[in-house]
Amino acid sequence: MLTPQLHQSPPASPALVPLSKPSSQGNGGIATFPVQSTPALQKSPRSAGVGLASSTIEAVARPSTIERFTSIKAVVTVKPSTGGFFSELGISGGLDKITDLMGKTLLLELVSAELDPKTGQEKGTIQGYAYKNGQNEEEVKYECQFEVGEEFGEVGAIFVENEHHKEMYLKDIILEGFAGGPLSISCNSWVQSKYDSPQKRVFFTNKCYLPAETPSGLRRLREEELVILRGNGQGERKSHERIYDYDVYNDLGNPDSDADKKRPVLGGKEFPYPRRCRTGRPRTKTDPESESRTVTIYVPRDEQFSTIKELTFSAKTVYSVVHALLPSLETAIVDTNLGFPFFTAIDELFNEGINLPPLQKQGFLKDLFPRLIKTVTDATKDILRFETPDTMNRDRFFWFSDEEFARQTLAGINPYAIEAVTEWPLMSELDPKVYGPPESAITTEIVEREIKGFMTLDEAIKQKKLFMLDYHDLFLPYVNKVRQLQGTTLYGSRTLFFLTPEETLKPLVIELTRPPTDDGKPQWKQVFTPTCHATSMWLWRLAKAHVLAHDSGYHTTSSSATGNKISRSIMLRTHCATEPYIIATNRQLSEMHPIHKLLHPHFRYTMEINALARGYLINGDGIIETTFSPGKYSMELSAVAYDKLWQFDLQGLPNDLISRGLAVKDQTAPHGLKLAIEDYPFANDGLLLWDAIKEWVANYVNHYYPDPSRIASDKELQSWWTEIRTVGHGDKKDSPGWPDLKTPSDLIHIVTTMVWVASGHHAAVNFGQYTYGGYFPNRPTIARTKMPVEDPTEEELSMFWDKPEVALLTCFPSQIQATKVMAILDVLSNHSPDEEYLGQDPEPAWKVEPAINAAFESFHGRLKELEGVIDARNSDQRFKNRSGAGVMPYELLKPFSEPGVTGKGVPYSISI
Ligand SMILES: [Fe+2]
Repeated sequence: MLTPQLHQSPPASPALVPLSKPSSQGNGGIATFPVQSTPALQKSPRSAGVGLASSTIEAVARPSTIERFTSIKAVVTVKPSTGGFFSELGISGGLDKITDLMGKTLLLELVSAELDPKTGQEKGTIQGYAYKNGQNEEEVKYECQFEVGEEFGEVGAIFVENEHHKEMYLKDIILEGFAGGPLSISCNSWVQSKYDSPQKRVFFTNKCYLPAETPSGLRRLREEELVILRGNGQGERKSHERIYDYDVYNDLGNPDSDADKKRPVLGGKEFPYPRRCRTGRPRTKTDPESESRTVTIYVPRDEQFSTIKELTFSAKTVYSVVHALLPSLETAIVDTNLGFPFFTAIDELFNEGINLPPLQKQGFLKDLFPRLIKTVTDATKDILRFETPDTMNRDRFFWFSDEEFARQTLAGINPYAIEAVTEWPLMSELDPKVYGPPESAITTEIVEREIKGFMTLDEAIKQKKLFMLDYHDLFLPYVNKVRQLQGTTLYGSRTLFFLTPEETLKPLVIELTRPPTDDGKPQWKQVFTPTCHATSMWLWRLAKAHVLAHDSGYHTTSSSATGNKISRSIMLRTHCATEPYIIATNRQLSEMHPIHKLLHPHFRYTMEINALARGYLINGDGIIETTFSPGKYSMELSAVAYDKLWQFDLQGLPNDLISRGLAVKDQTAPHGLKLAIEDYPFANDGLLLWDAIKEWVANYVNHYYPDPSRIASDKELQSWWTEIRTVGHGDKKDSPGWPDLKTPSDLIHIVTTMVWVASGHHAAVNFGQYTYGGYFPNRPTIARTKMPVEDPTEEELSMFWDKPEVALLTCFPSQIQATKVMAILDVLSNHSPDEEYLGQDPEPAWKVEPAINAAFESFHGRLKELEGVIDARNSDQRFKNRSGAGVMPYELLKPFSEPGVTGKGVPYSISI
């Protein structure tokens, strides 16, 4: 075994260069640093040490005292990498690259946690070179021996300098030989080659400290590391950098390629929006407001974990779908407007499949999409054959029934939209001069006729029996704009439901509204009811398709409603709202801050998947714009929803339910809430999960803040919360809903909300997308044609009368739209084999603190219990919204899952 020379440097003058401790080595200039064979551990008196005070070669004699030394072995675990996510696509594994690392080293420097009591200055570091000492399939080990004198005290951090020419992914460093047992330093970070990035990297031990409690020897390093992570806001970011900074969404359009591809800036006064990560790319030539687009988008290096994840890692799969599968679909389906001629043609997607032109890198793609791409053994073609969604397997006609339409508002993939009707008559808040009369066409008589004698409308409202999906005021201002686009249309819509004595919802009426048009037509609005007459039933089905398209568009990009209603969606409420929390956490909370350690697993992979979404999903002409009703206005609508409706305090589940009128506070009820709909599967399971998260967060916060006053005096924590409110979500800094951060209870609420959004909320709206959207008649993303009764032409009317089925199929997505969305939904609903589920494994830092480890074990236990509770609920026939003939059980909040499209499993973070 090769052992480096042991070396302890004397204290030197105070360091001025960021992140370098006084050391004998300067910048690597080493006078006497022989690589020698064993004996590894020499108990050498301190007087034997000779070091360098600076990079000049000058021996410094040390005081002649006898000091006891302890032999310490450092074992560094390195994960092999092939050098980046995008370059890895289609390239075989990484271990072949390891040979590059042979003979090269890592320079390690131990940093004392305490200042020198005599001088009051930082102690010198102890340096050593770590050499490769073994490898297996998964990792490479480097080892180094140190002799640590007793005066050195506790090790608080370690510097690493990568002597190789390539970056390395350090998993951890274990220091063995201390009397108290091994000391762990979790790195999980890329260390750049010293030739690319001369600054030494510092890693702190896994122990957490509030800023004021930072050991004296680490205070400077703690602050300087944060300065580095914040950057200076200048220049274009390079892919190896670790800088976290803010910018607006000004990279969605591509104005240089086509004026029509210019998109408004999201973020700012006109379209308020959360901030995204700054990349510093140059502005476009034709629009100084827009940032130019690049194939790969900068995210801080440690947010790109994909090279060490499995090949099926979600981001890679999304990338491959966009770059290989969808183009090949476009080749197979040339006519972009072509709809499905019959319902049976939709079924063929699951049976015969679509012939695709031979795909490049076939093996690679087939490995990525074993569910989708089938090989035909005796032909050269590939077949894209979709898996039959679970909903269809249970009930072939599930999508057709009104009961199922209503049930999915409580147990489907957008359970966040339903709200109680509290005021009557329904009125628009929009300007009547622009949008026409504000009164809804849904009258008391219509509702009472549909309730069929159960009760009066007044009673229904008082008893909280009347519920609504409200996509009226959000969409109406966009109707005329969207109707200018080819192949799509839009209405404002309201859908009312009645809660039956069996706790199921019955759809009563849909109202569709078009505002006055630019060419002088007055406002048009009409109500549709599911009456027993062929014509009205077909109109009802068409109206439902429009509402479902509104719900899909809203669910995916933004959210709706007015008044006390809140914004809800996947992109806005989970992905985009979380990115500023991640940026602020890295900029303001040191890695040794306990709240950084608590939140870190909930932020993994989110910035990378968000960058990918900006690249290919939500960009101009991207997947969302080409397949959803609002077309190029999709993200603009998301910004309108953020502006009007998003509030931090309403992102927590209890407040969300209360704000929608779905719950009231009641200390005698479970979770302190009485639900308006007792069998509301999302709320029932969600509240159990919310409580489990809250208990875990409370245990954690109370452990680190036993004295409540430490919250207000925690400078990092206060800067973090200020930055989130005034910078990351700065467009809403003066809006209501920002809690104070003065007490542990405030912090528990804030952190629980962030954790819930990243875990339970995202899982509830994400992992059922293929199950419910895979058969698109159940959730069309777009309604392409207006209702046949709105200003009808002869041709439209006669087609509707002669072939209403064709009218419905024409309204549904085109073939290319439907298949693109199905492929994307399949990938987005997928758990990778190495998915990290909430509460499954603790962070290394949690394990080293016995009280935190015990709290985590308790959290883990509660989540395991939740699995059983959910199973029991799903098999209880009393709960008709999750149990019954052909009904999908509600499993979206079951914490754990197998890999694949399972419709369950709650990961720690938003990683897809
Ligand atoms: Fe997502």
